[in-house]
This record gives sequence, C-alpha cells and structure tokens, in this order.
Amino acid sequence: MAFGKLGQTLTALEIFDLVREDLDQVEREIGLESISSTDAVTYIGQYLQSGGGKRLRPVLVLLSGKLFAESSPALIRMAAVVEMIHTATLVHDDVIDIAKTRRGRPSVNVVWGNHTSVLAGDWLYMQAFQVALRERSFPVLDLLITLTQMMVEGELLQLERIGKLAVTEADYMELIDRKTASLFSACAKLGAVISGASDADEARLGDYAWNLGIAFQLIDDILDFTSREKILGKPVGNDLREGKVTLPLIYALETADSEERKLVETILADGNYDQVPFAKILQILNKHHGIERAQERAREFTDKARAIIAQFPNSPYQKALNAVTDLVTGRDH
Ligand code: IPE
Ligand code: IPE
Ligand code: MG
Ligand code: MG
Repeated sequence: MAFGKLGQTLTALEIFDLVREDLDQVEREIGLESISSTDAVTYIGQYLQSGGGKRLRPVLVLLSGKLFAESSPALIRMAAVVEMIHTATLVHDDVIDIAKTRRGRPSVNVVWGNHTSVLAGDWLYMQAFQVALRERSFPVLDLLITLTQMMVEGELLQLERIGKLAVTEADYMELIDRKTASLFSACAKLGAVISGASDADEARLGDYAWNLGIAFQLIDDILDFTSREKILGKPVGNDLREGKVTLPLIYALETADSEERKLVETILADGNYDQVPFAKILQILNKHHGIERAQERAREFTDKARAIIAQFPNSPYQKALNAVTDLVTGRDH
C-alpha cells in the first residue's frame, strides 16, 4: 500500500504490520459476508472488495480495540462491519454524484446502473448490521444506527448545497462532520467498546478519530484539486464539477474579485470545464492561498488528534494511532 510521504514516527508499513493478520481475517469476513442469494449483489461485493481501497476504517477499529485488549473475533467482525458500511456509502455516493470512477475502475453505478447499485448498497448496509447484530450489544447498534443517520444527513445537506457558491466554512465543517468524521469517530468507539474500554476512554478515542476524520476529508478535498486521476483513482477537479464548493475554494473565494467568482460560478452552472479550464481554477486557488490555508487547517485537526492520543499510555498501538495522523496528512490518494 503506497501512502505517499511518510511520517517520521511509524511508517505506513509498520502500522499495517501491527494489524496485518487481523486485516487478513477482516478481508475473509467481508468476503464471506458479502455473498447473497442474488448474483448481482455478490458480484458487486466482489468487485468492490477487489478494487483496492485503503482499509483505513478497519485499521482504526483494530488499533483502537488493541489499545485495550487482545484482538478477538468480535473486533475482527466490527472492523468488517465498518468497511462494509463505508463501501455501501460509496456505492450510494457514486450514484448520487453520478461518478464514473472509483478506486481506479469504473464505479458500480457505471457497470450495473443506478437501480441495481442503490439496492446492492442497501443490501450491503443491512448485511453490515446483520453482522453487527451478532454481538447482541445495544451500545454497538446504537453507535451504528446514529452513525448511519448522521452520514445520510451529511449527504442530504450536501445535496441541498449543490451548485451554491455561498458556502461558509461553518457550513462545510458541519457537512464533513456528518459525512466523514462521524464514521471515523464511530470506528474508534466501536473498537474501544468491543475491547471493554471505559466510557471515558471510548469518548476520548472517539474524539481523536473525529479530528482525524475531519483532517482526512480536508485532505480528500485538497487532493481533488492537487492530485492526478492515476494516483487518486477518481477524477480530479471533480468536486467543483459536481457543484461542491469545498474548503480550499471557500478560502480562495473570501478574497477573490468578482471576475474570479464569476469563473467559479460558470463551472458550477455548466457542470464542466468547457468554458473555464481547470487550470484557471488552480490559478485562482494558488493566488488566494486556498490550498495552503486548507492544509494548515487539516494540520490543526491532526495536531488535536495527536494531543488526544498522547493522553493514552504508551504502547505500539498508541504509537500507531499517533502515526496514522501522518498518513492522513501525507497521503497522496
Ligand atoms: C473515500 O474514502 C470517501 C471519503 C470520505 C473521502 P477513502 O479515500 O478512504 O476510500 P477508499 O476506501 O480508500 O477507496
Ligand atoms: C465522501 O464524499 C463520501 C461519503 C462519506 C459517503 P465525497 O463525495 O467527497 O467522496 P468521493 O470524493 O466521492 O470519494
Ligand atoms: Mg462522491
Ligand atoms: Mg471527494
């Protein structure tokens, strides 16, 4: 797994080594649990699983759980559950965003069409809950149900704001809190709950992962401008084309002149870069330091995450959770 620039602490490889065997079991669990009596669902499940993906959310569950106890079948199952939920949200997200590419391949909606994708996403969601139900744990179900509603609210909020230029930083933060950070936070909490951590530790770890999740989405939105499709596995310049005004642009628009705002508005209205090239947008971003400021903001959140994780006793897992923050800010895809 190539994660771009690595931190000085633990490398990506060292982090993954700590949970490598568990992750192999998570993959087996996902494979076994994604088999349906309907072929389309099974094929879609296999297509998604073999398409790569960083598996960051299961890693978070595993590291969080192992901070408090040895790995267990329940922890493995929970790591599989969050990846299945993540996958289901991606399938639905790509339908909503009319995406063409995901994980470097045609997205599920392109291959199977919207109708099948929506239903397969539903099935995957419910299968994740089916697996989670085996714990017979109300706290686990409570976390997962609250989380799923949060994520759906995030996508709904995003829909309401599509094509709008006047998005504030606060609006944006509210959105990424729901659509991304809530899942990161739930991953850490689930790991903690399964391993019998105290309520206070669960809350603190959730807080750590929430900050990590916000930084993760900030970087995702930065990479949408700065990366290349080959590396990212999805097209660049896509957010703006889809009508999404993200933080780098929100910052740039604060000081942009009316002509520059017009150019951005043109893309929002057209849904393509035919009249205004993507390079022009990059120029506006650079001129107004939109990327730099968003990067700075992402660093603030990873600093916060590190400060929280530093409160836990030193252990390989605590170190790894600390180093995950470097992975998030240093990643290239
Ligand atoms: C994509 O998540 C959705 C966002 C929250 C930006 P990832 O970038 O973790 O997707 P995969 O699982 O690695 O493909
Ligand atoms: C994140 O939203 C996806 C979810 C949390 C469901 P995006 O729309 O920004 O994700 P990408 O860019 O398609 O991966
Ligand atoms: Mg999308
Ligand atoms: Mg995105």
